[in-house]
Amino acid sequence: MNNFTYHNPVKIVFGKNTIAKIKDLIPANNKVLITYGGGSIKKNGVYDQVMKALSGYNVLEFGGIEANPDFNTLIKAVDLCKKEKVDFLLSVGGGSVLDGTKFIAAAVNYNGDPWEILTQKKSGKITKALPIGCVLTLAATGSEMNGFAVISRRETGEKLSFGSPLLFPQFSILDPQTTVSLSSHQTANGIVDAFIHVMEQYLTYDVNTPLQDRQSEAILKTLIETAPIVMNNPDDLDARANIMWCATQALNGLIACGVVQDWSTHMIGHELTAAYGLDHARSLAIVFPAIIENQKSRKFNKFIQYGKRTWHVIPADENNENDLNKAFDKVFNKTIDFFHSLGVKTKLSDSDLIPEKWAVNPEQTFEIIADRISKRGLKLGEHKNIGYDEIKEILNKCWK
Ligand code: NZQ
Ligand code: ZN
Repeated sequence: MNNFTYHNPVKIVFGKNTIAKIKDLIPANNKVLITYGGGSIKKNGVYDQVMKALSGYNVLEFGGIEANPDFNTLIKAVDLCKKEKVDFLLSVGGGSVLDGTKFIAAAVNYNGDPWEILTQKKSGKITKALPIGCVLTLAATGSEMNGFAVISRRETGEKLSFGSPLLFPQFSILDPQTTVSLSSHQTANGIVDAFIHVMEQYLTYDVNTPLQDRQSEAILKTLIETAPIVMNNPDDLDARANIMWCATQALNGLIACGVVQDWSTHMIGHELTAAYGLDHARSLAIVFPAIIENQKSRKFNKFIQYGKRTWHVIPADENNENDLNKAFDKVFNKTIDFFHSLGVKTKLSDSDLIPEKWAVNPEQTFEIIADRISKRGLKLGEHKNIGYDEIKEILNKCWK
């Protein structure tokens, strides 16, 4: 096992009717800015619950944070925080609202152009941030229990991540009732995102971490078992609760302890979102299988282990290469079928999202993406062997 330091200070308040607890979690004299997205919280009653819990506080609002939160929108909130001398940020929404709120929290106190936080990896220079609380309404990203954020800048076609220990929310309220209003499209996205988060921390090579492996497999198995229940019965609160806790556990740092990670699916997926506007999870479901095929020999043993323990696919003879390859293919197909069962496509050319853009020379876009990632100077993959050529091969596999 590799060395690690693990520290996660986020207070999780989990369960039905927990939004009322906000008043115990934010100091009474604080000026609070609630941040939210395009309005789902006003339709599903979450906004009313939050405002009730905040009665007596000095409250301001900033709505309109879009999915894949945009730098230009967030800068408006930064200006508002400075002008109004806001003490506390309360994010009410999904991962985009929370990530945007983390950026606001950091940018308010940043000396210099805040975009540097993302482009120049100056997150180490974040020395101060506004405190953040979260009421989560979409189970997917794990942002509610980590210090990371992903910010887009549509005017330059960029989508970049950053993180700081100062950006852990002080608390996250996870009431599964808030997720009942999600469309099946967003529910499926959340399941796929959490699934891939586990995979990016699991599907590398063995450094003797049996506990972390089994923790990862437990999340994968629970997602696989619970996904059809929640897709068929969106009102099933137990299923919603289990998906929610899986998604939080998938990216709160615990399963990353001491293991070798590979975030190449996310790195390439973010570029597809920046290029085509594809939903985050939908980009991952397309890139992940292409990476498995491209990196088959390197990920082989762990993939077989995943297949045995999660899908119960046992090779007829463990010492026979042919049998192992057959098992590999079976597990690969089961994984693809799982995404398809959620209505999530695994090829760019099948995607029904923004179809007119697919016609615009995908090869050219793939070159731009490969160039952009490789110019950042770091090769992707647990063996640091995925560079310009491999990214193009992977993207070509993503197409058909
Ligand atoms: O904007 P509103 O009106 O709220 O609608 C949202 C949005 O349109 C809607 N929604 C959210 N909760 C709802 C709801 N609709 C009905 N009922 C509810 N209860 O869902 C849509 C998508 O919301 P969004 O917040 O964008 O989804 P998600 O939570 O999947 O977040 C995606 C963002 O998180 C980043 C992604 O890159 C993407 O920008 N990620 C952040 C990570 C992190 N901070 O650790 C890790 C992830 O890998 C990911 O990269
Ligand atoms: Zn993700």
